[in-house]
Amino acid sequence: MGRHERPLDPDAGPVEAFAHALRELRVAVGMPRYRELARKAGYSASALSAAASGAALPSLDLVLSYVGACGGDAVEWEAQWRAVSAVVSRSRPASRPVLSVPHDQQSADAAAGPDSPDRVPVLTGEPVFQNLTAGDPRQAGPYRLRVRIAVGSMGRVYLAYTPAGRPLAIKIVRPELAEDAEFRQRFRREVDAARQVHGLFTAQVLDADTAAPHPWLATAYVAGPSVQEAVTECGPLPSRSLWLFAAGVAEALQSVQAAGVVHRDLKPTNVLLAADGPRLIDFGIARASDASRLTRTGIRIGSPQFMAPEHVLGGEASLASDVFTLGALIVFAATGRTPFGDGVDVAVLYRVVHEPPDLAGLPEDLQSIAAACLNKKAHQRPDLASVIKACRVQSGFTSLKISSNWLPDSHTAQIHRHVAALQRV
Ligand SMILES: Nc1ncnc2c1ncn2[C@@H]1O[C@H](COP(=O)(O)OP(=O)(O)O)[C@@H](O)[C@H]1O
Ligand SMILES: [Mg+2]
Repeated sequence: MGRHERPLDPDAGPVEAFAHALRELRVAVGMPRYRELARKAGYSASALSAAASGAALPSLDLVLSYVGACGGDAVEWEAQWRAVSAVVSRSRPASRPVLSVPHDQQSADAAAGPDSPDRVPVLTGEPVFQNLTAGDPRQAGPYRLRVRIAVGSMGRVYLAYTPAGRPLAIKIVRPELAEDAEFRQRFRREVDAARQVHGLFTAQVLDADTAAPHPWLATAYVAGPSVQEAVTECGPLPSRSLWLFAAGVAEALQSVQAAGVVHRDLKPTNVLLAADGPRLIDFGIARASDASRLTRTGIRIGSPQFMAPEHVLGGEASLASDVFTLGALIVFAATGRTPFGDGVDVAVLYRVVHEPPDLAGLPEDLQSIAAACLNKKAHQRPDLASVIKACRVQSGFTSLKISSNWLPDSHTAQIHRHVAALQRV
């Protein structure tokens, strides 16, 4: 613990326990001063110190910068952060953000003074991008990586530009996966298939090098929050947005299906909300991870809340499995909850297979659509065209039409934040 840090009781709650673990990580690397860590982290000493204060859950970006500066494992810490964040968001109003520092202030006071836990940063949403740190690559094929967008289960995602200046999201596969020959083989096949997907609600796959030492995949950058981020920070979507959301994702899945691909990993971080509608990412490529040695030895990639029963039971995920997870995604977008609840993985997986979905809080007309998608029997689920038609009919509109105000103001403001952040890169 730092000289000035107030003692923490790790049993006091998940936020305190998380802060305690962050402090222990710092202790494990010889207790560097926050000022020293700030030089590597791209955050000020006071921001880093506040992250371990236990006053609130720090933003993911701040945590990953702290952890990166201490040489910790980003993937492991992100998983921990997500678990705590899920608990915190269940126990607080959806609109209250986590502890976070505005991007502009991140390194402003890097030399500003000693560890000072009392200086708590301003509350804002998550920063959209993180500066590259020493552990980040600088290049993927011909593309210069500008900032980090996210750390996901399969790898890290960076922002780059095409030679003529359009933004790209470049995913660089985790080294452990990249070393696995079977993973690489599948990844190549899946990326080839994903490149055949063309649609207005899917992010186009534009380039890839699956044979590179660090395999990568470039898709069109979508300026907007993921559904996960949108719902956690601004709350669930109202019904007028939900019809457009559900039909848009269903249409995206149709494009995926038309290329002979099963998405297999539909979940709130794989759907982004843009000014002109939802955008599906990461189609088909989760299968490659399933083939890897890591997955076979028990490291699961994917989240139990968004698996179809037949997939849980070891069967192949099919087009109908994507319809099931579409149902789960609709429930999440509409309520902020998943239809089979939280808890340890086995309990969730049991409920996915055996128990009816919890559809409480869903607008009545949407309940029947979600329930149909969430049918345990794959062959009884509707096809995607029927889902789209049901959304159109139930919405009361003769035709569905996405306009720039398809989301409530709070969520539109989140999109604007992403657009503004992109302009600053
Ligand atoms: N094409 C894209 N445009 C904008 N953001 C993207 C794009 N692709 C990925 N991202 C961002 O990266 C995040 C994590 O991506 P990913 O590596 O797929 O992790 P996960 O396994 O959690 O889905 C997404 O939720 C999104 O915020
Ligand atoms: Mg993803």
